[in-house]
Amino acid sequence: MVFISDEKKNQIIENSDIVAIIGDYVDLKKSGNSYKGLCPFHNEKTPSFTVDDKKQLFHCFGCGEGGDVVSFIMHKEGLSYIDSMKFLASKAGIKLDDSKSSKENKILNRFYDINKDIMMYFYKNLLTDKAGQIYLKNRGFRSNIVNTFMLGFAKNSWDDLLNYVKKKDYLLDDIESLGLIKKSQNGKYYDKYRNRLIFPIINHYGKVIGFGGRSIDSTMPKYLNSPESQVFKKRYNLYGLNIFKKQSSKDIILVEGYMDVIGLNNQGIDQAVASLGTSLTNDQAKLLKRYAKNVYICYDEDNAGIKATDRAIEILLDEGIKPNIISLEKGLDPDDFVKKYGRDAFIKKMDEASDVYNYKYNKILDLYAKSKDNEKFEKLNLFIEFLASIKSDLTREIFINNVSKLFNIDKATLKESVLKYNDNYKKTYINNKENFSNDNNFKNFHQKQKIIVERKIMKFQLMSLKL
Ligand code: CTP
Ligand code: MN
Repeated sequence: MVFISDEKKNQIIENSDIVAIIGDYVDLKKSGNSYKGLCPFHNEKTPSFTVDDKKQLFHCFGCGEGGDVVSFIMHKEGLSYIDSMKFLASKAGIKLDDSKSSKENKILNRFYDINKDIMMYFYKNLLTDKAGQIYLKNRGFRSNIVNTFMLGFAKNSWDDLLNYVKKKDYLLDDIESLGLIKKSQNGKYYDKYRNRLIFPIINHYGKVIGFGGRSIDSTMPKYLNSPESQVFKKRYNLYGLNIFKKQSSKDIILVEGYMDVIGLNNQGIDQAVASLGTSLTNDQAKLLKRYAKNVYICYDEDNAGIKATDRAIEILLDEGIKPNIISLEKGLDPDDFVKKYGRDAFIKKMDEASDVYNYKYNKILDLYAKSKDNEKFEKLNLFIEFLASIKSDLTREIFINNVSKLFNIDKATLKESVLKYNDNYKKTYINNKENFSNDNNFKNFHQKQKIIVERKIMKFQLMSLKL
């Protein structure tokens, strides 16, 4: 825990100009003695958000939000007072830590500066080289998307970037650590990204931490990404969060890829972020929680996407977020969908998104509907397992009703099966964790549960036959 003296606090506030800091989030325009812009805390079409340069205060006449630079950061970044101070200190280049960490900071800042410079280099390439522009045009992107995401282009060359960084006197070792050049077997450096559209990955503090590159011909792999480094830590970042932060909606859409974030933005939906090609991590879920109120999962409608959705649901629930799940058409990703059907159709899909329980229930229902008649009864286990996973009594009751109707089993019997399922789960799993250290034991548990449930139901059916 860092202690910040009052003197240091004053120094931080004095060096954090409110107009400059808020300017990172809001397009401010000078109006008389103050600045005006669209409020980042509520939705509005005409600006009622003002920043007073002299008093170093902000105020919104629309929603009443107001305060100084620290309260702005606390609110907008979702940080505590101390963390907001640290945030501002780092922006102002004020050191709070001991000398060891300031040495690390120096390296970090060097890497950030290099990345930023190279982002600009790629960006200029895109503005001057037709190949990248044609690719974007063919995919239906409007030209302002280039500026929004600071897209770039790596030329079809083995040494274009290499020559640039040599001219700039950067350490080639640094450029290699950042994954922008590689060494061949004969010890010569060459450009890693060639003939690729470049997506700079900008973190939620506005630092360029890495690059993704999509091949614009059919060269494999389709995407190249920065390797993990001191500045690029995939698990803690979400692509597009820097853009999300600039708008005021609290609904965030989690998608799979760069092109989905950009494709949605191209149609005026600026709320999407992507988990950078990995499955969602707990740290990314924490970020979502920090910046958004409602999380919508909208992964590709293919097998991999459906599996990834299930994993993401569990991670989000784990962090206390109850996500909504958007289902698109089979085979389409969000970029394909919004290009084919437009913005309104996507917003409609958002409105129709399922909560976790309905999503899970419908999936089992689908399996049930698709199974052969002689296998239908067996699917009952899946329903029991699902019912047993519902923590809220009320919600469970609703679904017990549904299942009861579907199988024509009375509710009391279902309830008993669910209780029994949870009881056994507790006995065998919670009280006996080590037995579940391998997958086999876990499978055995489910197998046993299945038999118990089946027996119970059989008994019930025999009883009803007798009646
Ligand atoms: N990805 C990756 N490496 C690959 C393939 C994919 O890192 N070889 C990651 C990228 O972050 C990509 C995401 O996974 O954005 C989703 O991949 P995919 O669905 O294949 O690509 P799209 O986003 O649909 O891209 P495009 O529309 O250009 O095909
Ligand atoms: Mn796609």
